Amino acid sequence: MSNIVSQNSTGPNPDYIKNLFNSISASYDRTNTFITMGLHQSWRKKLIELSDAQPGDKVLDCATGTGDFAIAFKQILGPKSLVIGSDFCEGMLDQAKIKSNQLKLDVQFEQADVLNLQYEDNSFDVVSIGYGIRNVADTKKGIQEMVRVLKPGGRLLILETGSNQSSLLKPFISVYFKLVVPMIGALSSGNKKAYQYLNQSSLKFPCGLEFIDLMNSTDQFSHLGFKKLLGGASFIYKGIKR
Ligand SMILES: C[S@@+](CC[C@H](N)C(=O)[O-])C[C@H]1O[C@@H](n2cnc3c(N)ncnc32)[C@H](O)[C@@H]1O
Repeated sequence: MSNIVSQNSTGPNPDYIKNLFNSISASYDRTNTFITMGLHQSWRKKLIELSDAQPGDKVLDCATGTGDFAIAFKQILGPKSLVIGSDFCEGMLDQAKIKSNQLKLDVQFEQADVLNLQYEDNSFDVVSIGYGIRNVADTKKGIQEMVRVLKPGGRLLILETGSNQSSLLKPFISVYFKLVVPMIGALSSGNKKAYQYLNQSSLKFPCGLEFIDLMNSTDQFSHLGFKKLLGGASFIYKGIKR
């Protein structure tokens, strides 16, 4: 596997990330469901609700992975909406395509790097990214690129893990993430290292107001807000483009 740290920025090395997700793509959905005890599906619904997406809207789900957000947007918004799911990892996109074909949904899955999206400025009503931004080599540049393709008034929604849980849940969540998650990951995917990385990267990544400050530093938003999930185990961030 490639070096974990990118040579050009503070975030993870893109080649390391691509290899990691290619190696766990087939078991990704199952492991996710075990790790979050199925809660991730209700968090996804919450994010879609907060996006204020309407039938007919154009939606881009970045770092779509196995496509759960893109599929859920399409199911909720219906055939009039254009929904694109993009990711730079082919193995994850293959799983996404299989799922949307099985559901007979017309979702476009395309290869794209969050840091260099092939879409025109001001073209989407909603851009989302779920558990993806902390894996992008340059977080601020990733946010700027996603905002670039949003229309003025468009909404950027980010679902990400958190590390500043409320005091009551903190001991439980920290043991759960440090010990239980890598163990479940190892059993479900056969790749304990991948889930150790995913856990360590969560602990280091800014969350809550710290992440809002980062979004704000792009000077692109007229409104910013966030919602804590399960006492801070995950967060949904929302920014409206000026
Ligand atoms: C933890 S998975 C999340 C998948 C999905 N969004 C979900 O909610 O389950 C992270 C995804 O981010 C993708 N990713 C990481 N960095 C990326 C980048 N720079 N451009 C595109 N995709 C990226 C990975 O390939 C992987 O599929």
